[in-house]
Amino acid sequence: MDADSRIVGREDVPEGGTVLFSVTNGDDSEQEAVLLDLADGVAAFENYCPHWQDVRLDTGSGATVRNDEIVCEKHGATFETDSGYCNFGPCEGAVLSEIDVRADDGAVYLTDDDYEFVSLGPAEDDDHGPDGDDSGRGNRSGGGRIGFGGV
Ligand code: FES
Repeated sequence: MDADSRIVGREDVPEGGTVLFSVTNGDDSEQEAVLLDLADGVAAFENYCPHWQDVRLDTGSGATVRNDEIVCEKHGATFETDSGYCNFGPCEGAVLSEIDVRADDGAVYLTDDDYEFVSLGPAEDDDHGPDGDDSGRGNRSGGGRIGFGGV
């Protein structure tokens, strides 16, 4: 495996938790991804909710993971950790955008040809909201929102 694509040590991916990391797809902008420990490997998804794309699943302290599901704290949507499929909530049926990763020889590597690994942690150019207030509105502040008559 290419050392430049090494994300983190395998033992540093917490069981029942997530690791936040940043990637770029070749342009100048960075975007965030969440890395998850699965029973049979690892998985990663872009770090936003398909319901309101300006809401991050992991705001820096780990996404909520319960019963093999990632929980969006905004309106409670749940996503299967192995597929990203939303099985409950206002965006039911949507699927998180997957980023290919692989565990190998004690580490986790980015294996997605569409992305380059940048760093662990939040994206540098993610403004965390229009006022820099870490409100969960990142660089997707113009992102789409699926209609929702609730909260
Ligand atoms: S923003 Fe995630 S469920 Fe509404």
